[in-house]
Amino acid sequence: MHGHHVEDELCVCFHVSRAKVIRYVKRERPRVVSLISQCLSAGTGCGWCIPFLTRIHEEVMAGREPEPAMSREEYLRRRDEYRRRVANLRADTAPPALPGDAPSDAPGSPPAAR
Ligand code: FES
Repeated sequence: MHGHHVEDELCVCFHVSRAKVIRYVKRERPRVVSLISQCLSAGTGCGWCIPFLTRIHEEVMAGREPEPAMSREEYLRRRDEYRRRVANLRADTAPPALPGDAPSDAPGSPPAAR
């Protein structure tokens, strides 16, 4: 069983390693996480890695060394599950709107990543 290695891909969609993200944040000290996505494309595919980018950003900006949240196997397994869930949500047809059921923009939801 393998652990998580710093050179492993954090953003699997765009092949961006944890090390690359950490180096970028240390060097550029971007104010917001979206700047990491803009520069490295990390997080702009399925969206799975966004919370992990956020965590790395927080840790590095606070002067801490970010630790991987889980093993490599678990990371990839959970990403598969996440992608299946998202695919199912998209495949679902929208339920008929009920009277008085105004469509709401869920606050705090991440920007739609495609
Ligand atoms: S793993 Fe980063 S956007 Fe999909």
